[in-house]
Parts: sequence; C-alpha cells; structure tokens
Amino acid sequence: MTELQGARVLITGAASGIGRRMALGVARRGGALALWDLNGEGLQSVKSEVEALGGKATAAICDVSDREAVYAAAAAEEPVDVLINNAGVVSGHALLDISDEQIQKSFDVNALSLFWMTRAFLPGMMERERGHVVTIASSAGLLGVPGLTDYCATKWAAIGFDESLRVELDRKASGVRTTVVCPYYIDTGMFEGAKTRFSFLLPILNEERVAEKVLHAVERNQARLWMPPLVYSIPLLRLLPVSWFDIVVQLLGISASMDEFKGRIAK
Ligand SMILES: NC(=O)c1ccc[n+]([C@@H]2O[C@H](COP(=O)([O-])OP(=O)(O)OC[C@H]3O[C@@H](n4cnc5c(N)ncnc54)[C@H](OP(=O)(O)O)[C@@H]3O)[C@@H](O)[C@H]2O)c1
Repeated sequence: MTELQGARVLITGAASGIGRRMALGVARRGGALALWDLNGEGLQSVKSEVEALGGKATAAICDVSDREAVYAAAAAEEPVDVLINNAGVVSGHALLDISDEQIQKSFDVNALSLFWMTRAFLPGMMERERGHVVTIASSAGLLGVPGLTDYCATKWAAIGFDESLRVELDRKASGVRTTVVCPYYIDTGMFEGAKTRFSFLLPILNEERVAEKVLHAVERNQARLWMPPLVYSIPLLRLLPVSWFDIVVQLLGISASMDEFKGRIAK
C-alpha cells in the first residue's frame, strides 16, 4: 500500500485536466501537494482549490522538458513521496503535417521529461526506501493511430521507461514502486474532436473518474492501469496476423478516431 494521507505528492501538468483532478483527490485524502506546470494562472487556481479543501500545496512554474530547470526546481523542493509524471502535449496531425519543432516538443515533454523528473526525485526516495513513481502514458502507447505518430511514439517510450524502471527498482529491493497508466481518450479537452465509434466498448473517459482510478491504483501499488477494460485485449489482438489486427482496429473506429481532432482551443 502507498499511503496518500500525509504523503507529499508532486504532480506535473497540475494546472488542468487529470493533473488538477488528481491534485484535488490527493488533497481530499490528506496528502500535501507540489504542483508543477507551465501555466502559472492555472497553478494558482488549483492551489486555491486545494486550500479550499483544507489541503496544503506549493506551486512551481517549471517546464519539465527543460532539464536544467527541472533540476533547479527539484533542488528547491521538500522530499517527495509520490511523483506523478503527468504533463503532456499532443500535436494531432499526420506525420507530414506536423513541424519538426512539434515532433521535438512531443518527445521533450512526453518522453524525455520522465527521465529528468525521475532522476531528480528517485535518489531521495531510494534513500528513504519508499516512494512511488507514476507515469501517465496512454493507450496510444500500445497501439498506433493515424494522426498520432509522434504522440504514440512518445507514449510507447513512456511505457518502456516505466517497465524498465519497475524491474530495476524491484531488483534493487528499493522499496520504490511504479504505476503506469494507459487510458483511452479522456474528456479534458486535450483531445477535443477525437471520436469513438462504439462508446459502450471504448468510451471517452471522464477526467474525474480517471484521476480517482489513478490514485486508487497508487494506493494499492497497482503496477499497471489500463482503461477502459477493452484496452487489456490489445496484447491478445497482436497475436493476429498484422493485416487482421489492422482490420480489427479499423472496425473499432480507432483508425479514424483522430479525423476530426481539434485539440485544446487556445485558453
Ligand atoms: N486527454 C486524453 O485523452 C488523454 C488520454 C490518454 C493519456 N493522456 C495523458 O494524460 C496526461 C494529462 O493530460 P490531460 O488530458 O489532463 O491534458 P491537459 O489538460 O492539457 O493537461 C496537461 C497539462 O500539462 C501542462 N504542460 C504541457 N507541457 C508542459 C511542460 N513542458 N512543462 C510543464 N507542464 C506542461 C499543460 O500546460 P499548458 O496548458 O500550459 O500547456 C497542462 O496544464 C498527458 O500526459 C496526456 O498525454 C491524455
């Protein structure tokens, strides 16, 4: 069990979406929060929401893709018991329609920041022989989707990062646990316009429920949280010949899910 009551929990991308919802969930459980994001206004508003619930929070503007900024901000933090690597970006267009800079940014934020953040906070956890590192990946890390070449590749990287780290930490009997989270689309606005064909099989997930499930998984030391349940069938579907696998993905409407993608409208 990872006790959240009394724990200090750092969440990146805490100013909106599931980051914000997880922060409120931690506050309700009696945990203290370190909120990190690029969006200073959003951070202050989440900090006030946490305090209104009787919780404690600090807020730091930090670009998690900037390695030196991460190390400097981490040096100013109190010890962290639970690190939730949640910040993420999506470009959402076909490979030839995205810029080199967008591709670079996707990797910097969604993949490389996991290294900088975790390398900054893991030594303290290992010293204390307890802690928890959460990687918010995506079901896009388990399956390729048209319009998401860069995003899928970064989330694939995130899953590989978590799995290698989990086994490394286990072999060292470090006392530090990991959880990787792979949700289908969530109604946060990040994937505005993304569509599902069969909502009873692959619903657009509710951000509050996703956040609660993540915290529950952390509390139970659940190593892997994929949602909705159909996502757990992806490794089995991969036993099919590739052309059949592609047909199933197409029939489920996943291949066309990004056709009307708009993304977050400028805030
Ligand atoms: N929404 C979905 O359908 C979905 C599905 C599966 C997985 N996920 C993953 O879930 C996580 C949270 O997504 P969400 O839907 O809650 O998105 P969101 O509402 O857009 O939240 C992401 C937060 O990360 C912040 N951020 C972006 N780049 C950053 C950087 N370089 N440094 C610090 N903070 C940064 C954003 O700030 P700005 O607003 O200032 O950019 C935003 O506050 C992401 O990792 C995403 O890939 C989302």
